[in-house]
Amino acid sequence: MQTKLSIRSKKLKTEILIKKDYISKFIKIIAKKNEKVFCFLDSKININLKSNEQKNIKIIIIRCGEKIKTLEKYKVLSEKLIKNNVNRKSAIIAIGGGSLGDLVGFVASTVLRGLDFFLIPTTLLSQVDSSIGGKNGVNTLYGKNLLGTFYQPKQVLIDISVLNTLSKKEIKSGYAEIIKHALIKDYSFFCWLEKNTDKLFDLDKSILEKAIYKSIMIKLLYVEKDEKEILSNNDSRAMLNFGHTIGHAIESHYNYKKFNHGEAISIGIITEAKISNYLGLLSSYELERIIKHFKKCRLETFDNILKSKVLIKKIIKDKKNFLNNINFSLIDKIGNSIFYKKLNKEKVFKILKKI
Ligand SMILES: NC(=O)c1ccc[n+]([C@@H]2O[C@H](COP(=O)([O-])OP(=O)(O)OC[C@H]3O[C@@H](n4cnc5c(N)ncnc54)[C@H](O)[C@@H]3O)[C@@H](O)[C@H]2O)c1
Ligand SMILES: [Zn+2]
Repeated sequence: MQTKLSIRSKKLKTEILIKKDYISKFIKIIAKKNEKVFCFLDSKININLKSNEQKNIKIIIIRCGEKIKTLEKYKVLSEKLIKNNVNRKSAIIAIGGGSLGDLVGFVASTVLRGLDFFLIPTTLLSQVDSSIGGKNGVNTLYGKNLLGTFYQPKQVLIDISVLNTLSKKEIKSGYAEIIKHALIKDYSFFCWLEKNTDKLFDLDKSILEKAIYKSIMIKLLYVEKDEKEILSNNDSRAMLNFGHTIGHAIESHYNYKKFNHGEAISIGIITEAKISNYLGLLSSYELERIIKHFKKCRLETFDNILKSKVLIKKIIKDKKNFLNNINFSLIDKIGNSIFYKKLNKEKVFKILKKI
């Protein structure tokens, strides 16, 4: 498959470029068009920007991970920009994984009421998911991503050459979001992934590019229909949350330490697929097929906390919930998702005990 190099979403006013070995060039182009450029850079990424033309680029290096998604860090970064005389002709670039992108996106959307924002995602997860759609934010004591805005980056650069330094654990984490996209929307993509995961984990260029491109297109489909997640039907952006009602609760319960995002989401996907099966939506055959694939890829599928009442306290903080209902994005077959509104916390607890 020939991957398109540029996906332009007119509705979102954002452009997604898929290019190899292009990061330094991309930053230089932005620097030529803007008075000042502030690059927030994940400390694990090496980029070479040393040249005389780049006097207007300030690089701020950050040690990344879920722990940076806090209000305290938001304050530090925002004040750093203000101290360094950021103005409306400045541009902000985040070069890192989803945690940096989420934090810096929130900063860019609020400092001076919004600055031009560019994203260079450097993990598989951020390339297939978090860099698309304009959601950003930080975590609070009560749960994940509860403070943030919708703010579209002007451009997103997906450069798969940065993935070479990524650990297998992080590749698997990104894969969880890829498989989520297939499960909610595209049966043939799921079948293709079943056949090609080994190559994908070996970072085969054409397989990776196709998986990333397909994932982005599925995500865009929902985001363009429902950017601000207002709908509560099967077209809702919330469908992308399959696996996340449970996954976010698990992450939050363990204070983001025991599992990374993709690992928690893997457990969430399997658990929500089991819930789908328990409710008579998903066949046992398809459930088994999903579990088999997860086990083959050595993705996480279970944690003891699923059986404990404490998880319910976290689940009720989910942003999809309304009144007493716990709303789920579930699947009724591989490749099709539905917005399910008929559960409350007692029912969810009962189901989790049984499955
Ligand atoms: N905004 C959204 O729509 C959205 C969607 C999905 C996930 N998310 C968020 O994304 C976050 C997870 O993102 P993530 O999985 O990218 O994690 P991350 O940003 O924490 O990165 C994981 C680790 O990989 C390192 N790293 C980054 N790029 C690297 C590279 N090229 N080589 C080696 N190491 C590298 C980081 O320093 C970090 O230690 C979560 O907070 C999740 O909530 C947001
Ligand atoms: Zn996710």
